[in-house]
Amino acid sequence: MFAIIGGSGLANLTELDRRRREVVRTPYGDPSCALTFGAIDGVDLVFLARHGYGHTIAPHEINYRANLWALREVGATQVLAVATVGGIRADLGPGALVIPDQIIDYTSARKGSFFEGPDDPVTHIDFTHPYSEMVRARFAAAARAIGETVALGGTYGCTQGPRLETAAEIRRMQRDGCDLVGMTGMPEAALARELELPYGALAVVANHAAGIGESSQAISLDAIGVVMNLAMERVRRILAACLRASVDSTSGASDASPSASGSKFEAS
Ligand code: HPA
Repeated sequence: MFAIIGGSGLANLTELDRRRREVVRTPYGDPSCALTFGAIDGVDLVFLARHGYGHTIAPHEINYRANLWALREVGATQVLAVATVGGIRADLGPGALVIPDQIIDYTSARKGSFFEGPDDPVTHIDFTHPYSEMVRARFAAAARAIGETVALGGTYGCTQGPRLETAAEIRRMQRDGCDLVGMTGMPEAALARELELPYGALAVVANHAAGIGESSQAISLDAIGVVMNLAMERVRRILAACLRASVDSTSGASDASPSASGSKFEAS
């Protein structure tokens, strides 16, 4: 079953058929919200609003572990995540859609692993390629099928938030090789990998990052709302195309990412 994680601007999937909600509890606490189950064109999915349905949970307060655990618990087998970002690369302006292929993690003090505590052996996961190539290809094919332009590849820098960045922080991120800046990509992607859930993200550029382009003096929070409303309609169509394509394509497609499964090892 597909899991969709919606971020800012995508707190509901009202277009689902057979929609129902279910509260799921986990050993790691409560997820951001009750899970929404439903179907698009007959394909089952589970939806989770990362910030809660009322958009009340800040990026640093999200219980990422509970979110991923709950999705796996109810039978999700791959995660399509939608994330709002700022564009660092000059050509990634407001409204651009990007399928990132790399991550740099600038967050701090978030609970970023299921493997902890005195009873768990130290466990490492391979994270060379943080996103599932299968999910990335699914997003790309769906966008192509409906004529939406998406940028293929890009490095997502994840900051702690909730404040936006300074211009100097963005210049540093630019030097590091970041193309996008967001606040929720980590530890979400790493936790999915720990659970061996193929995970990919569709990033929606809401604004140029601090100090860049029309954000050279400030980031206009008013303008973001307008951009997001328009962009999220395109995102909804891409998500629907992802699900529709899963019916057409050969069943049982396996994850092409070499590091997506069997990639954990325990260190003594
Ligand atoms: N920085 C961090 N996260 C964001 C931004 C940004 O400029 N825009 C949307 N999410």
